[in-house]
Amino acid sequence: MTSNPLLSCRGLSASVDQKPILFDIDLDIPQGQVHVLMGPNGAGKSTLGHVIMGDPVYDVTGGEVLFDGRNITDLSPDKRSRLGLFLSFQAPVEIPGVPLSSFLRAAIEGREGMKMKNKEFKKRIAELADELDMDKSYLNRELGVGFSGGEKKKVEMLQLLLLQPKLAILDETDSGLDVDALSVVSRGMELYRERCDGTLLIITHNTRILEHLQVDEVHVMVQGHMVAQGPASLIDRIDANGFEEYENELAAQQASAK
Ligand SMILES: Nc1ncnc2c1ncn2[C@@H]1O[C@H](COP(=O)(O)OP(=O)(O)OP(=O)(O)O)[C@@H](O)[C@H]1O
Ligand SMILES: [Mg+2]
Repeated sequence: MTSNPLLSCRGLSASVDQKPILFDIDLDIPQGQVHVLMGPNGAGKSTLGHVIMGDPVYDVTGGEVLFDGRNITDLSPDKRSRLGLFLSFQAPVEIPGVPLSSFLRAAIEGREGMKMKNKEFKKRIAELADELDMDKSYLNRELGVGFSGGEKKKVEMLQLLLLQPKLAILDETDSGLDVDALSVVSRGMELYRERCDGTLLIITHNTRILEHLQVDEVHVMVQGHMVAQGPASLIDRIDANGFEEYENELAAQQASAK
């Protein structure tokens, strides 16, 4: 008997301002697996991440999102987060006046199994900061203010390892990461996998961040449609040939449907 996937999108369609962006998306991610979502710019990858997370900017016009045995299609982002969903975009960019450590403390507030005394919490984040090679003085700095792209990535990974969500969607389209930032992301993902058998959906153009991970499945989106899925070897094929074959296939499908 196969158990239900941790995350399932069934026939998911979504619009923004009446403009359809996602069309009939099916996506299954079993617990403990690493999935990668690829596709050309504007394919709808980030939108899919946001819709799974419940971003109110998008209207779900069809289909459903199931997570951990529940239909979460109508839940608020906060409730989804409490159920164990995490989207890397969630890390707020800048909140002047709020030190990073207070933000992290608030993020775990009221979470099941996360009750800890302040001293314990401080120790925990100091350990994580160490593991991510992150200067501990960041923890007292105002959230995001003046953080470089690489520093923001470290914060994101710290948040991931602290919260230990059941499923993390990491949107790495922002590709201006230098070698150090890339290695922080890789390290964060590896630790998340090792520590809590975490489940990952990685959205990326930068396949170097996948080098240290064993990828279970690759999904390819084009123009708001899910057009292919297959083994990790798809990544090399896409690196070599781009998305043209998938674009052509979608065009052919659409022509024959007319
Ligand atoms: N909030 C929004 N308002 C208007 N249009 C949007 C919004 N969000 C997404 N779109 C549109 O939806 C389409 C898909 O965008 P999305 O950001 O999901 O693509 P992507 O696959 O993540 O691309 P990239 O690889 O460049 O990050 C684009 O045409 C984009 O302009
Ligand atoms: Mg994107």
